[in-house]
Amino acid sequence: MAESIRTFSLQWRILSLIIALLVYFPILSGSYFKPFNVSYDHRALIIAGKRRMLVSAGIHYPRATPEMWSDLIAKSKEGGADVVQTYVFWNGHEPVKGQYNFEGRYDLVKFVKLIGSSGLYLHLRIGPYVCAEWNFGGFPVWLRDIPGIEFRTDNEPFKKEMQKFVTKIVDLMREAKLFCWQGGPIIMLQIENEYGDVEKSYGQKGKDYVKWAASMALGLGAGVPWVMCKQTDAPENIIDACNGYYCDGFKPNSRTKPVLWTEDWDGWYTKWGGSLPHRPAEDLAFAVARFYQRGGSFQNYYMYFGGTNFGRTSGGPFYITSYDYDAPLDEYGLRSEPKWGHLKDLHAAIKLCEPALVAADAPQYRKLGSKQEAHIYHGDGETGGKVCAAFLANIDEHKSAHVKFNGQSYTLPPWSVSILPDCRHVAFNTAKVGAQTSVKTVESARPSLGSMSILQKVVRQDNVSYISKSWMALKEPIGIWGENNFTFQGLLEHLNVTKDRSDYLWHKTRISVSEDDISFWKKNGPNSTVSIDSMRDVLRVFVNKQLAGSIVGHWVKAVQPVRFIQGNNDLLLLTQTVGLQNYGAFLEKDGAGFRGKAKLTGFKNGDLDLSKSSWTYQVGLKGEADKIYTVEHNEKAEWSTLETDASPSIFMWYKTYFDPPAGTDPVVLNLESMGRGQAWVNGQHIGRYWNIISQKDGCDRTCDYRGAYNSDKCTTNCGKPTQTRYHVPRSWLKPSSNLLVLFEETGGNPFKISVKTVTAGILCGQVSESHYPPLRKWSTPDYINGTMSINSVAPEVHLHCEDGHVISSIEFASYGTPRGSCDGFSIGKCHASNSLSIVSEVKLYCLQHWQLIQSYEGI
Ligand SMILES: *[C@@H]1O[C@H](CO)[C@@H](O)[C@H](O)[C@H]1NC(C)=O
Ligand SMILES: *[C@@H]1O[C@H](CO)[C@@H](O)[C@H](O)[C@H]1NC(C)=O
Ligand SMILES: *[C@@H]1O[C@H](CO)[C@@H](O)[C@H](O)[C@H]1NC(C)=O
Ligand SMILES: *[C@@H]1O[C@H](CO)[C@@H](O)[C@H](O)[C@H]1NC(C)=O
Ligand SMILES: *[C@@H]1O[C@H](CO)[C@@H](O)[C@H](O)[C@H]1NC(C)=O
Repeated sequence: MAESIRTFSLQWRILSLIIALLVYFPILSGSYFKPFNVSYDHRALIIAGKRRMLVSAGIHYPRATPEMWSDLIAKSKEGGADVVQTYVFWNGHEPVKGQYNFEGRYDLVKFVKLIGSSGLYLHLRIGPYVCAEWNFGGFPVWLRDIPGIEFRTDNEPFKKEMQKFVTKIVDLMREAKLFCWQGGPIIMLQIENEYGDVEKSYGQKGKDYVKWAASMALGLGAGVPWVMCKQTDAPENIIDACNGYYCDGFKPNSRTKPVLWTEDWDGWYTKWGGSLPHRPAEDLAFAVARFYQRGGSFQNYYMYFGGTNFGRTSGGPFYITSYDYDAPLDEYGLRSEPKWGHLKDLHAAIKLCEPALVAADAPQYRKLGSKQEAHIYHGDGETGGKVCAAFLANIDEHKSAHVKFNGQSYTLPPWSVSILPDCRHVAFNTAKVGAQTSVKTVESARPSLGSMSILQKVVRQDNVSYISKSWMALKEPIGIWGENNFTFQGLLEHLNVTKDRSDYLWHKTRISVSEDDISFWKKNGPNSTVSIDSMRDVLRVFVNKQLAGSIVGHWVKAVQPVRFIQGNNDLLLLTQTVGLQNYGAFLEKDGAGFRGKAKLTGFKNGDLDLSKSSWTYQVGLKGEADKIYTVEHNEKAEWSTLETDASPSIFMWYKTYFDPPAGTDPVVLNLESMGRGQAWVNGQHIGRYWNIISQKDGCDRTCDYRGAYNSDKCTTNCGKPTQTRYHVPRSWLKPSSNLLVLFEETGGNPFKISVKTVTAGILCGQVSESHYPPLRKWSTPDYINGTMSINSVAPEVHLHCEDGHVISSIEFASYGTPRGSCDGFSIGKCHASNSLSIVSEVKLYCLQHWQLIQSYEGI
C-alpha cells in the first residue's frame, strides 16, 4: 500500500468564475467563423474539408431563459461538446396564424448567435413536428382548424403551412448570416422527426410525404446537410439517423451516408405520478464509446440540458413541469455529477482518438474473447506519421475480462469499453468514474491496493424558510363567470372550443328532477351517475356548485355518482387538459375533453342523453381572463387577507410578495403544501404544479450500470411527490417584492410554501490504482510510429464547487478500503489513520492558492 502514489489536485473555482463573467458578454455581431462548407462521406461529416468526430449537446432554448443560455453553452463546451442541437418550436414561434414571435425565450437568432460566439456548431432540427414531450409536439393548435387538414401526410393544406414555416426559419437564419458558409455556426438541419415510427399509418401517402418533405427541404438552398431521424426510407440526399439508448451498429440506408446518432437518450422524462428515471453514467459512457468504436461519427445527448416546461408548454398527457431528464446539466443548469464529469473525460479520450478515427475509412475488427472485441483505427495522420487508436469492449454484463491486445494485457470491467488513443495505453474506461462524486465500480480480479475517498461539504445558503407570513386569497367562481359564455345544443369537443388558450373548459346544463325521481331514489339508493364513455385529462363534476368528484386519466371511462335535489339542478362539468398529445399518428384528431356517449343514469324514466342537452360553455377561469397573476392587473381583483388557520379550499387564487434568497444560486419554490394548479412569479408562468404521489413500486431494485438500460431500470422517488420544487429563473426576480400568484384547484396551504436555492452540497471523489491518469496529461499527444509517449503518472482526484462557493469542510477521508457512496462513507478494513488530517492540510493550502497539485507518498 505504501508504495502507491497519490496525487491530489483541489481546484478553487475563482478562475472559472472569471471566465464565466467573460462569456456573459459575447459579441453579438459579425461572423463567428471563417466561412466554411459542410458535406459528408460514409465515414463522417466533412467540415471545412476535414472529417470530424463530433459530440453534440441537446439544449432546447425555450426550456431555459435567455439569461441562462450563455452559461449552458459554456458548460457544454467545457464538457467537451463541439455542437449544440435544438428543435425549433413552431407553436412558440407562431402562436397565432401569421403572427410570429421571436422574443424572449423564443429569440432563436440570439440563441444561435450565442452558440456561434462560443465557437460551437449548431444542428438545427426544424421539424416542424418535434415531439419533444412538448405541447402538441410543437404544432400550433390553430393548425387543426384549417379545413381539410391532416398532419404529417400528403395533404395540401398541411404541406402548405409546413413549407411556409420551414421556409420562414431557413430565411431567418440566412438573413442573420448564421449558416456555416456565411461564417455562422449552423452545420446541419433536420426535416420531420421520427416519422418512421408512424409512417405505416399513412400508407402510400406517408411515403409520398417523406419524398415531398425531403425535396421541399433541399429546395430551400440552405447549403448544409439535412437529416431525417428514424427514417429508414430517407431519400438519397438526406441522412437517416438513429435515436435510442444505444446506436452502435446502426447502419444508414446508403453506403454514402455517415453514422449519426441524433438522440442519445441519457435519461428520460417523467409523468405526474411517475418515478424519476436515472441513467447511470457508466452505461451512458459505454453506449457512447461503443458508438464511436463501431464506426459512429456524430452523437448528440438528448438532453445535455433538459430544463423546465414553463407555462403550459409541457406535452402529454401528464408530463411534469421539470424536464430535468437526468441530463449532465440539471434542470437549473448545474453540473450533474458524476455524469457531467465522466462524459467530459470520455469526450477528451475520444478527442485524442480523432486523428486516427478520421484517418481510417472503417475500423479493423478483432475478436478478443467470447464477449470481448477490439476495433482498431489506423492510417496516416494529418501531419505525417502513422496514427492508431483502439477501443476494447467487454460486453459481458456480469464479469470482468482479461484480454491480450497487441502483446499487452488489459483488464476490462463488465459492460465497459477501454479507449486507447495510441493503441497501447488506456486513457479511459467507461466503467471507471474518475469524476467527482464517486459511485461504486465493479473491480477487476487484480488485488486491491486500496483507494482513497474524500468527502467535502460546501457552504449552503439553503435556508428553509416559508416564503411569506401574509397571503391574500380570492375565490374563483364555480361555473359560468362572464360575458363571453355561449350556449349550444350538444357536447362540443374541448379543443374546438378552448383553442388551447386555457387548460379549462366549463360546461353547464340544467337537470330537472321530479318528485317521482326522488321517491325512486329513496327506494333504490339516493343517486344518479354521470357516465361518459371516454375522457381526458381531468374532469371535475359539480352539482349546484358543490364538487361531486374528479376523474383523472387519458381516454378513460368516467363514472361519477351525483346527488340531485328536487326541482332544477345545475350540473357543471369542467374538463381540463394537462399537456396535449405530442406523439403518434393523427394528432389533429386526438383532441381533448369527451368522446363517445355521455349520459346521466339512474332516473325513473331511464337515462338522460347528455350529448343532446343544451350546454352553456365558458373557456378558462375568470382569474386567467382578468390576468390577476400579472403585476399590472392583480390589484384590480378583490383580494382579501387569508387567515393563517383558513382551511384548504378548492378553486382559490392566492397571492403574496416575497424577497428572493441572496446570491446567484438557482431559486426554486417548494409547493409540496399545495394540491394542484398553476403558479406565476411577476406574471411569468412557472408551470403547472401537482402534489401527486409517485407510484409505490419500481424503485426497489438496486441500480446496476451493467446491462442494457431502459427507462424503468434505475428509478427513484417512489411513494413520494413526483415534483415538489419548481424553478423560478433568477432573471424573473427583482431584488425585492416579487409577486407570487397561484391558482389552486384542490386545496392547499400557501403558508407552508418555501423558497430555496439549489447547489451541490456534498462533493466526493475517489481514486484508486484502477483509475487512469488524468487525461490532461495526454493533452499534447506525441505520435511516434503509431504509439504515443506518455509519462506514467498517478491518478488524481479533482473536486470543484459550483461558481461562487468554496469548500467549507472536509467530512471524511480514508486511504484504504472505505465503503459507501457520496450519501455517506464509512471506514473499511484497511484505513490510514492520518488520511483526514493530510487531506485537510491540502484543503487549507488550496484555500490560499488557486490551484495546487501536491503529491503524497507513503501515507
Ligand atoms: C353569459 O353571457 C350572456 C351573454 O353575453 C350574459 O348576458 C350573461 O350575463 C353571462 N353569464 C354570466 C354568468 O356572466
Ligand atoms: C371540431 O371542429 C371542426 C370544425 O372546425 C369539425 O370539423 C370537427 O368535427 C370538430 N371536432 C369535433 C370532435 O367535434
Ligand atoms: C350510489 O353511490 C354509491 C357511492 O358513490 C354507490 O356505492 C352506490 O352503488 C350508488 N347507488 C346507486 C343506486 O347507484
Ligand atoms: C440564512 O440563515 C442564516 C442564519 O440563520 C442567516 O445568517 C443568513 O443571512 C440566511 N441567508 C439567507 C439567504 O436568508
Ligand atoms: C520509428 O520507426 C522507425 C522505422 O521503423 C525506427 O527507425 C525508429 O526508431 C522508430 N522510432 C521510435 C521512437 O520507435
